[in-house]
Amino acid sequence: MLRLPGLIDPHVHVREPGATHKEDWGTATAAALAGGFTAILAMPNTAPPITDEATLHIALQAAAAKAHCDYAQYFGATANNAASIAPLASQAAGLKMYLNQTYGSLRLDDMTAWHEHFRRWPAHAPLVAHAERHTLAAAILFAALHRRPVHIAHVSHREEILLIRAAKAHGLPVTCEVTPHHLFLTAADAAHIGPGRSEVRPVLASEADRQALWDNLDVIDCFATDHAPHTLAEKDSDNPPPGFPGLETALPLLLTAVQQGRLSMEDLIARMHTNPRRIFGLPSQPETWVEVDPDARWEIPLQGWHTRANWSPFAGMQVQGQVRRVVLRGKVVYEDGKVLASPGAGRPLRG
Ligand code: NCD
Ligand code: ZN
Ligand code: ZN
Repeated sequence: MLRLPGLIDPHVHVREPGATHKEDWGTATAAALAGGFTAILAMPNTAPPITDEATLHIALQAAAAKAHCDYAQYFGATANNAASIAPLASQAAGLKMYLNQTYGSLRLDDMTAWHEHFRRWPAHAPLVAHAERHTLAAAILFAALHRRPVHIAHVSHREEILLIRAAKAHGLPVTCEVTPHHLFLTAADAAHIGPGRSEVRPVLASEADRQALWDNLDVIDCFATDHAPHTLAEKDSDNPPPGFPGLETALPLLLTAVQQGRLSMEDLIARMHTNPRRIFGLPSQPETWVEVDPDARWEIPLQGWHTRANWSPFAGMQVQGQVRRVVLRGKVVYEDGKVLASPGAGRPLRG
């Protein structure tokens, strides 16, 4: 058995409030434990979106009642909430700014609103941007102008990771995350995944983009799943929403890369535990670890998951490494396919 520290996923879509037919705080945190994650940070593009004290309270109440692992909830930036949410920063995982079109209604187009958020959100509190290509360049400029850190979500293109390399070399306060789907899939995989099912933002990119992420691993601070559950009926509809479930497949995929010598175990632990804890200022979880069978070989199935969305874009891939047991604060909370933690056993990471 291999023992890893409890993994931290800084990018999870829990879907509660508003879309519990896709996922809720119980099923998302069950999927997290099954994947070896003992802490998740929940994105704010829910319905309603989490943009003020009242909606933050709604999400945290649901989490307190249902969560099986530890958690925090992001605020979403809007055109007019910069002043009202800044004093509440210590209660949130961070501030999320959607600077490109994606799922939900939180896109911020007007750069004057970007300035307000970069100016008011406390410099020590995490600020995460969904920023692709030219927008990513703009987000880095804002971090430089306001002399505060910015974390770039789900980097997927060669030109982006090279820009982040250049920004870091220049001493700019930028960190970033990459998803397993951008490390292991390309646009060519859409043919077998299916047209609606393969929809995701940022879109699956080219083989050259995928390879550039591996070639610039030293620039990647975190692996984040961007677990974005939608039902198969929704994915197969005429208007498929973008997003993939990812909590239960990230560790097996990355452990397989370790087996293949594409990544070291230290690289993995840095990006799934040490760096997210430092970047997001999370407390340590005492007596918390994940036991993995490093030799177990299995094929990723389409269904049979803890996530309510219950499908995977990685179906059919062969992996090596399986989560056997998860211990959270001294208690066995997951063992051989079963979640043993009671709903509400998860604790808030903020406040
Ligand atoms: C996410 C979702 O479904 O909430 N979808 C996605 O394709 N990644 C939104 C996002 O992270 O941009
Ligand atoms: Zn996004
Ligand atoms: Zn996301």
